Amino acid sequence: MLCNTPPMGWNSWNTFGSDITEQLIIESAEALVSSGLKDAGYKYVVIDDCWSERERDESGRLVPDRIKFPNGIAALAGRLHDMDLKLGIYSCAGVRTCAGYPGSFEHEFDDARTFAAWGIDYLKYDYCYKPDGIPGEILFRRMAAALRNSGRDILFAACNWGNDNAALWMRSAGAHIWRSTGDIFDSWSSIKELILLQDGLEPYTAPQCWNDMDMLVAGMQGKGNVARGGCSEKEYETHFSLWSLMSSALMLGCDIRNLDESSKKLFTNKGLIRINQDSEGRPCYVLPHWNNSDCRTYVKLLSDGSYAIGLFNLGETRSETAVHLWDIGIPANSGHKVEIHDVLNPDSSEFIQERYSCMLEAHTCRIIHLQLRK
Ligand code: GAL
Repeated sequence: MLCNTPPMGWNSWNTFGSDITEQLIIESAEALVSSGLKDAGYKYVVIDDCWSERERDESGRLVPDRIKFPNGIAALAGRLHDMDLKLGIYSCAGVRTCAGYPGSFEHEFDDARTFAAWGIDYLKYDYCYKPDGIPGEILFRRMAAALRNSGRDILFAACNWGNDNAALWMRSAGAHIWRSTGDIFDSWSSIKELILLQDGLEPYTAPQCWNDMDMLVAGMQGKGNVARGGCSEKEYETHFSLWSLMSSALMLGCDIRNLDESSKKLFTNKGLIRINQDSEGRPCYVLPHWNNSDCRTYVKLLSDGSYAIGLFNLGETRSETAVHLWDIGIPANSGHKVEIHDVLNPDSSEFIQERYSCMLEAHTCRIIHLQLRK
């Protein structure tokens, strides 16, 4: 199966936009390996929009930009496969991509064959320039059919920003992940907006078709194509933690060739990755806060009977947050002791009774791993 757990990797868009080259992709792939990110699970290297020539060739085939990718995409895929990585590429359900390059509308089967022949492992499929009057379902079903019959396993990453009630049909159409939000930008307000946009969509993430809350901006430090002032280290931690808990795809978007230590530590946090990659892939449920609508608690049941719990303060003031064990199905008479570990500060552990509470500064979180003991 192609997508038992959410895909992890890196995508060119957030930092580089149209400024992509074969050299950049190779350097980023090498950085994934040398930084230890690959060993932590990040395997997909995805080339986003702006990789092709402006027009198809005389037989209607897509042509890689001759200056940006002088050796073609197949050679690049070969390089990445030699590093035990996977290569992703981008196209669009409409007649043009969002940046105006050729889209796959009415070329779906030919393009899927081209991608398979090049050795592509992942296709991000966008929604710009979609012909009016043709339902999105039909277009995503088409590309899903084309990829599944291309002779190669290609992960289908649907990106229609959650429009047109995609939650209700993307899974059945054949996508492996689906963008459940609009575009992310490198600012706290954008992160918070995307978090709020997920309200009600939590139950849809599951093995073989995961919610995708968009590529990560953590580590961008206010630089790059989607820059909007950047975020603090703590805000990036909140962002990465929530994406992990929500079983979102974890696609890094910063310049991983110049990774700072705190970003690297966050991206390779074993506890967060374990939560994100749990084999059962159960969605979170959300517990509202008793007196502060900006604080909320996300709970994810893990396959070994333990729990991942995220307490988040999305508001502007320091606040106390709490989770009551009764609310997650553990009454006082369970006969178990309850042990918790702080996932972001892995050395600490304690036993709790009935409730866990903590003070959270604005825009911060506490992630705990909770286990029932005899
Ligand atoms: C948007 C998409 C972005 C990026 C961009 C490229 O529609 O949401 O993630 O792919 O197009 O033009």
